[in-house]
Amino acid sequence: MGSRLRPLTKITNKHLLPIYDRPMIYYPIETLCKAGIRDIMIVTGGNSAGDFLRLLGNGSEFGLKDIYYTYQEGEGGIADALKLCEHFAEGQRIVVILGDNIVQDDIGPYVRKFEQQDSGARILLKQVDDPERFGVAELDGERIVNIVEKPATPKSRYAVTGIYMYDRRVFDFARKLKPSDRGELEITDVNNQYIKEGDLHYDVLDGWWTDAGTFESLYRASSLVAGENTGRRS
Ligand code: G1P
Repeated sequence: MGSRLRPLTKITNKHLLPIYDRPMIYYPIETLCKAGIRDIMIVTGGNSAGDFLRLLGNGSEFGLKDIYYTYQEGEGGIADALKLCEHFAEGQRIVVILGDNIVQDDIGPYVRKFEQQDSGARILLKQVDDPERFGVAELDGERIVNIVEKPATPKSRYAVTGIYMYDRRVFDFARKLKPSDRGELEITDVNNQYIKEGDLHYDVLDGWWTDAGTFESLYRASSLVAGENTGRRS
């Protein structure tokens, strides 16, 4: 619902808002395309879902042959949105990116590492100054032992970014989830299930990363992209 961005999101979806010179949704799509991903499903919801079709069409602007769309009823959370992609995934591995996650670098190298894994999941971490806004990884040496969603007292400064790679088991895990206190199926619970299975792998992202779901981060995202466009490295 983009409630943290009201009134900007009163009449449109968060992911259609501008980040510098393009609508927010362009960036995650470009991130996937740059990494060599060609089969893309967009999960959207809310009142302006039809606008995504008008904006993105068949994906030719991104060099895609087509784009798939589906619609999430209500506000069931990220893991609930993911469940809508099971049929689309056809038992293959998937990369998930949240529509408000903007990264500087090509994620291709991390995706290649995921392809080389025998099984499991791979997530990307980034050190931040405000970990309490995110899912936060608790590390024991090099190993992630737990992820806590928006902890009041974070165990580290490693935020879990909204870029996730999963094998086909993700849909079994998502099916078994129970809603959290905020009434959503949490992607953090999916990741914790992979930890239990001993099959959650990670990399720490190079380059900048930001979400864009608050006024501060929306502004920061625009500034980072603008800096990039004028050739400055932030
Ligand atoms: C979501 C996830 C959180 C993650 C963040 C990354 O939070 O629940 O674990 O760190 O995305 O952007 P949201 O922004 O939906 O509150």
